[in-house]
Amino acid sequence: MPQILLSHGPDQGVRLLTLNRPEALNALNTALLETLSEALDAAEADPDTRAVVITGSERAFAAGADINEMAARDTVGMLTDPRVQHWARIARFTKPLITAVNGFCLGGGCELAMHGDIRIAGHNARFGQPEINLGIMPGAGGTQRLVRAVGQSLAMQMVLTGEPISAQRALEAGLVSEVCQPELTVERAVAIGRTIASKGPIAVQLAREAVQRAEDMDLAAGLRFERHAFTILAATDDRREGLEAFQNKRKPAFSGR
Ligand code: CAA
Repeated sequence: MPQILLSHGPDQGVRLLTLNRPEALNALNTALLETLSEALDAAEADPDTRAVVITGSERAFAAGADINEMAARDTVGMLTDPRVQHWARIARFTKPLITAVNGFCLGGGCELAMHGDIRIAGHNARFGQPEINLGIMPGAGGTQRLVRAVGQSLAMQMVLTGEPISAQRALEAGLVSEVCQPELTVERAVAIGRTIASKGPIAVQLAREAVQRAEDMDLAAGLRFERHAFTILAATDDRREGLEAFQNKRKPAFSGR
């Protein structure tokens, strides 16, 4: 049986995970979500992996939750659905996560893309929350992360009409940070991952956490968190190395200590 998730690397600090269910446009069934969350466990445990890129195919990043699997579940089945735990695992991932999106990025696919700290799209990408067309609604963050990414009005429009938006619109709205040629999407995402991998890992970890906290903290609490994280970095070898390297006009060699 073909692998439903391909894992490459880490190469120069970046591990590439490719969703591989082409027959179902990478629809996220339990097996795929489970394999993905296990791959993230492995990436987290591996000190040589400093950033992860998740991508799909050129035709589809992912066309949503697997509708056939979902159709077989009633309310009790949904309450005990193991996919909930897999989604929680993906959300808890502690290293920089970049999602590289081409083609259909719908429903659970759009929700997975939004788990990326950084989102890069090919200009053929179509982002949408079409659950309303199925008589249901988003269930893996599509009503919450989307509002934070694009604002209430566009999120509401996407969730209530089910109509997708183009990559260009996603760029304008802030859902993605860059749009490129579809054949370059993964390359670009990996290049960003490599740039991050070349920095001091403790600074990356704390800076990432501070930026993430901006979404769920009030400004005063967020600024306090930032100040504390900034202060903690003063105790690291990497800070000493970074400042000294600048003063001595050389490249820093970060040790992660
Ligand atoms: N689940 C299961 N199978 C899917 C799927 C999905 N979400 N999306 C596509 N497929 C399958 C199709 O059934 C089809 O399989 P067969 O060849 O065996 O018939 C194959 O993938 C190719 O799809 P199409 O023939 O439909 O391709 P198309 O180019 O004509 O259309 C599409 C592409 C517009 C994406 C269309 O497939 C589609 O509308 N898919 C469903 C999108 C959707 O509603 N997603 C939301 C799911 S619910 C959800 O995600 C809940 C949540 O929040 C967690």
